Amino acid sequence: MEKAKLTLDRDYKIGEIDKRVFGSFLEHLGRAIYTGIYQPEHPQADEEGFRKDVIALIRKLGVPIIRWPGGNFVSGYHWEDGVGAVDKRPQRLDLAWFTTESNKVGLHEFCSFAKKADSEVMMAVNLGTRGVDDAKNLVEYCNLDTHSKYADMRRQNGSEKPFDIKLWCLGNEMDGPWQIGHKTAEEYARIANESAKVMKWLDPSIELVACGSSALGMPTFGDWERTVLEEGYSNIDYLSLHQYYGNAKNDTPNFLAQSINLDSFIKGVAAICDSVQAKKHSKKKINLSFDEWNVWYHSNGQDKKFYDARSWGQEPPLLEDIYNFEDALLVGSMLITLLNNADRVKIACLAQLVNVIAPIMTSKTGGAWCQTIFYPFMHASKYGRGTALIPLLSSPVYETSEFDAVPCVDASAVLGEDGGVTVFAVNKSQDRDIALELDMRAFGDMKVIEHIVMHNDDVKAINTEEKPDNVTPINVKCDESGGGISGIKLGKLSWNVIRLK
Ligand code: AHR
Repeated sequence: MEKAKLTLDRDYKIGEIDKRVFGSFLEHLGRAIYTGIYQPEHPQADEEGFRKDVIALIRKLGVPIIRWPGGNFVSGYHWEDGVGAVDKRPQRLDLAWFTTESNKVGLHEFCSFAKKADSEVMMAVNLGTRGVDDAKNLVEYCNLDTHSKYADMRRQNGSEKPFDIKLWCLGNEMDGPWQIGHKTAEEYARIANESAKVMKWLDPSIELVACGSSALGMPTFGDWERTVLEEGYSNIDYLSLHQYYGNAKNDTPNFLAQSINLDSFIKGVAAICDSVQAKKHSKKKINLSFDEWNVWYHSNGQDKKFYDARSWGQEPPLLEDIYNFEDALLVGSMLITLLNNADRVKIACLAQLVNVIAPIMTSKTGGAWCQTIFYPFMHASKYGRGTALIPLLSSPVYETSEFDAVPCVDASAVLGEDGGVTVFAVNKSQDRDIALELDMRAFGDMKVIEHIVMHNDDVKAINTEEKPDNVTPINVKCDESGGGISGIKLGKLSWNVIRLK
C-alpha cells in the first residue's frame, strides 16, 4: 500500500477555530423557507408552522449561525413587508429568482426559528435597491432598546426585547451583473462604507461583512477587494468570499482537486487584505467570511426553464441539486481547506441548508432526509471545534487536466478542548488505498479511539427519500484499519474521521 505521512505537534498551531465556520445559509429561494423549514399544514409543523423534523436535522448538523434572507433575494427585499400582521403582508415579485414571495416568514418568525435550531442569525441588508437609510432602520429595529420609530415598531410587532443580531452582511454579491442593483467597485465601496458607518453609530457592538468577489473567476477579482477595503477599512470587519464547484464535464479527479483552487482563493484574498493593511499602516486585520460555499451544478439546466418561463410561481423546486458521493468527498476537502485556513477564515456558510443546494431535503407530503454532503459537514461541526494544528503532510500525488501535482490525501487536524485530536482526511485517489502514518511524538501516547469512514463504490450514488441511507458513514474497527497510528488505511475515494486520545 502506498503511504502518506502526517506530522502533528501540539505547539504547531494554525489558530483557534471560530465556531462560525460551521455556519449555513437560508434564502427566500425555491423551497428553502416555504415547504423547507416552514409548512404549517405539515404533520410535523409546530405551533408557529416550522417543521420539527427539519429542525431536528439542523440541530444534528450543528449550525451556529444562519445567513438570512439572501443571497440574491436580499438585493430587492423590503424587510418591512415581513413584519406585522401576517394577513396584511404583501405578496411581492422577486426578481432574483422570478418567483412570488408571500412574506409569511419575516424577521420575527425567522429569529424564532433560528433559536429553535440552536443558531443565531447573520443578517444581510439590501444594498441593491436600497441603501444607507434602510440599513440604519433595520439595525434600529433589530438591536436598539430606545423609544424611537423602528424600535417601537418592533415592540408593537410583539418583540419587546431587541433581537441583538451581532453579525451583518453589507449586501450580497454586488460585483455580479445578475445582482438586482449591481454596482461597480467604487459605487459599492461608497454605499457599503456609508452604511457600515451609520450601522455602527447605532450599535457599535455589531460586526460587518463587506462583499468581496462572488467567485475567484470574476473579471473584477482583486481590484474589487482592494477598492472596497481602501474605502471601508476602518468600518468593516470581514471580507466575503463565495465559491461553488461543479463536475459538468464528469472529470472526477479534476473535480476532487478543486480544494487547491479554494485554498489559493482564500490565500489570495488574505494577501489583498494584508496589502491594504500595510498601505494604511493599520493595526487592524481584516479576516474572511466565506459565506457561500458548496457544490452547485446538478440543477442548472432544469432551473433555466423555470426562469425563462417567467411564471412567478411560489415555492418552486429551484436549485434542488441531488448530491452524490463524489460531491460529499469534495465538500469534505473544502471543509478541510477551511479548517487549514482557520487563522483567516472566521465565518463560513455552507450554501445552503434546506432543499436549495442543501444537505437536508424535504418532501411536501412526506419526511426530511440527509443528502450525502450532510455527513462530512456534521462530522466537521461536531469534532472540528478547538485549535487547528499545522498538518505537515506528505502524500502521493496525481495529475489532472487543470492541476499538476494534486496530493491524493487532503488532511486537517484539530486539537479539542479535552486534549483529544481529530484528523479529517479525504483520499481522492480513484485506485489507490493509502496507509496514513501519524507522527504525533509530541503528544505522548495517543491511540485511535474511533475511525469513521464514508465510501461508496459508485461515485454517483445518492440518497433519496425512499433510500435515505444509501450513502452513509460507518465506523471501522480501529485494529482493522491497519493497526495503531502507523498504518491507518485511507481507502480509495473515502472521507475519514480519525479520533485520537
Ligand atoms: O446560493 C444561491 C445563490 O448563489 C445566492 O443567492 C447568490 O448569492 C449566489 O450567486
